[in-house]
Amino acid sequence: MSESPIEVVENAGIVRLTINRPKALNALNSEILTELESVLADLERRDDLRAVLITGDGEKAFVAGADIAEMRDKTPEQARAFARQALRTIKRLETLPVPVVALVNGFCLGGGCELALACDWAVASDNAIFGQPEVGLGVIPGFGGTQRLPRRVGPAMAIDLCITGRKIDAQEALRIGLVNRVMPQAELEAYAEELTKQLSGNGPEAVRSAKQAIHDGMDQDLDSALALETSLFALCFAGEEQSEGMSAFVEKRKPNF
Ligand code: HXC
Repeated sequence: MSESPIEVVENAGIVRLTINRPKALNALNSEILTELESVLADLERRDDLRAVLITGDGEKAFVAGADIAEMRDKTPEQARAFARQALRTIKRLETLPVPVVALVNGFCLGGGCELALACDWAVASDNAIFGQPEVGLGVIPGFGGTQRLPRRVGPAMAIDLCITGRKIDAQEALRIGLVNRVMPQAELEAYAEELTKQLSGNGPEAVRSAKQAIHDGMDQDLDSALALETSLFALCFAGEEQSEGMSAFVEKRKPNF
């Protein structure tokens, strides 16, 4: 493992980011956030990007939260700047034009849970533990948890988790819709490969448009969102993917995207 706080490994346009600070359970400090933002700024510019996976180094934690030791002596203004840095970085992850998947390999607490919430979906190892324990530290979630958590799991469950600070296991996270799948930790690697294969069979522009339609449409009323879908659907017919995809079906062969 390199010394960089964010390890970047790539296979066929699928980029895997590993937060690399296992001794502190991958707690997010300013250095990690700065490096993550710089990596994301590079990825944003790439037309050949097909998906991004994000995980934590080691077998114990995805991310155990923002760095408590670093936060301890902050003034309100410094705390605001730290939260803004994280919010900006997490937003860049969320708005990458390709699917972003969290591979949650252990503790996923506080800022870690907030990072996972900004991903399009999350897959968890069966030993993963989730929670927003900030109130136990005398603060509230500051990396978007009070806003993205209720949008993902509903306000009642979000208030339960943010007010009690209780931790939940992977099965409960699955039940409430915080994660899409749970599997043994050893299978997370195979899942990443399965996803790589699945995506390579799909039109990359279509994948980007599907994400855009869902993300942008969620912020609009239904009629406007349906009009957005129609525009993006029609736009598919202006590129080469639609012709290749449909011709391949008619000719009983695999598409070559
Ligand atoms: C800094 C952390 C850390 C964190 C763990 N470590 N979490 N350091 N910030 N969030 C460090 C520990 O200090 C310790 O370092 C090492 O990682 C291993 O952790 P242990 O506590 O010894 O492990 P264990 O006993 O197995 O307990 C695991 C744990 C616990 C339950 C996950 O570490 C824990 O409760 N961590 C804090 C979780 C949390 O409250 N997260 C929310 C943070 S606030 P040493 O050097 O002692 O070995 C937040 C707010 C976001 O995220 C918004 C801000 C604007």
